[in-house]
Amino acid sequence: MYVESVGVVGGGTMGGDIATVFLLAGIPTVVRDVDADRLEKVRQHIEGRFSERTRRGRLSTPEAERRLAVLQLTTGWEPFQHVDLAIEAVPENMSLKRAVLSELDRALPPLSLIASNTSALSITEMGRATNRPARVAGFHFFFPATVMRLIEIVSGEDTAPDTALTLVRVAEEIHKLPVRVKECPGFVVNRVLMRSLTEVFRFQEATGLPPAAIDRAVVESRAAPMGPFQLCDALGLDVALDVGRTLEHAYGERFRPGALIMERVQAGRLGQKTGSGFYEGQMPDPDPAEVDRARDLVRLQQLAAFTEAGRLVDDGIASPHDIDLALRAGAGLPLGPLAWADGEGLDTVKEELHVLQDRYGERFSVPSSLDRLVGSGSLGSGSGRGYHVYRRVGS
Ligand SMILES: NC(=O)c1ccc[n+]([C@@H]2O[C@H](COP(=O)([O-])OP(=O)(O)OC[C@H]3O[C@@H](n4cnc5c(N)ncnc54)[C@H](O)[C@@H]3O)[C@@H](O)[C@H]2O)c1
Repeated sequence: MYVESVGVVGGGTMGGDIATVFLLAGIPTVVRDVDADRLEKVRQHIEGRFSERTRRGRLSTPEAERRLAVLQLTTGWEPFQHVDLAIEAVPENMSLKRAVLSELDRALPPLSLIASNTSALSITEMGRATNRPARVAGFHFFFPATVMRLIEIVSGEDTAPDTALTLVRVAEEIHKLPVRVKECPGFVVNRVLMRSLTEVFRFQEATGLPPAAIDRAVVESRAAPMGPFQLCDALGLDVALDVGRTLEHAYGERFRPGALIMERVQAGRLGQKTGSGFYEGQMPDPDPAEVDRARDLVRLQQLAAFTEAGRLVDDGIASPHDIDLALRAGAGLPLGPLAWADGEGLDTVKEELHVLQDRYGERFSVPSSLDRLVGSGSLGSGSGRGYHVYRRVGS
């Protein structure tokens, strides 16, 4: 089907930005919130994003006015009778989301699609609150949605292939990078990112090194664009802890959040939004000797990210291409973890994991996809084949 109009339910942090993205692409968009004051803030937010673009010469004023004219704000359901795709962005709570989806089911035309921006909840469970589970999928934007290019398109057990395909086309139309993912807690990006953050927290606990030394070592190694503790301060420590707990519940102790983050959250130190988290304002200058000691973490973190990405391949959650693309676009990694392992040599990575498994236990166990690849002589980019296929120049 062709999506000519969009409805966004929930005009909070994500909903306002999601509506902006559709309006910038010239797609008529209606935003519903239960809170009328919130809708006024949505209007101001969207107008603000548009005027940034006109100021920078990226959009002419008449064009901005034309695109803004197709924004509708409502506290009711009436305008949804003309919507082809509705995206819910209400708070992360299953009973609320199921109630919203069931209302959407009644308000939308029968062939329209329903998508959820959930970060972690089951699409299958949400879809079954409607009479159109085949037309329900995840459409997971990253914060801030106007800037981040990635969208994880999540298929639940009942999602029809056509629904996912339509959403891929919609994502492309709004100039985003879609990756297709099968439902699992954390999907791709949060699952791999949180596994690697958990390893950072454990390393910090074991060594007692200050967060600033660890952040500096990670950034200097160019393994990630931002230090892990700075990232948590930006995301919100409560949000990171919440995701960590959900994943621990789903996958076990390899996602156990560290004591440090729990202490900070209990003390109300939630990061930038409360003025203090792992840091109070600016990151202090670390002691160079401690930065040196923190360098051991970088490889540990890369191997932890790789093992989780390998498990995603084992479970058939997404293709190696989509996993690496998601982590580059959604987490800013310079290289996807599977391509990283291909470059290191898969036999080398496997040997290292054996050593780490002996030392730390199951959290570093070898993914079965890695076993299979090494067993068949696909040893990574040096051998022309690994998680990805590499063509040699001239061959
Ligand atoms: N904030 C992030 O960084 C982020 C990133 C990716 C995904 N998500 C997901 O996006 C969703 C929304 O998160 P958020 O941070 O924007 O939440 P938020 O709390 O900022 O906004 C939620 C909005 O939904 C409105 N709302 C509540 N019940 C409603 C209803 N029945 N009908 C219409 N509106 C209703 C609220 O008034 C509020 O304005 C969640 O599922 C979250 O997990 C959030």
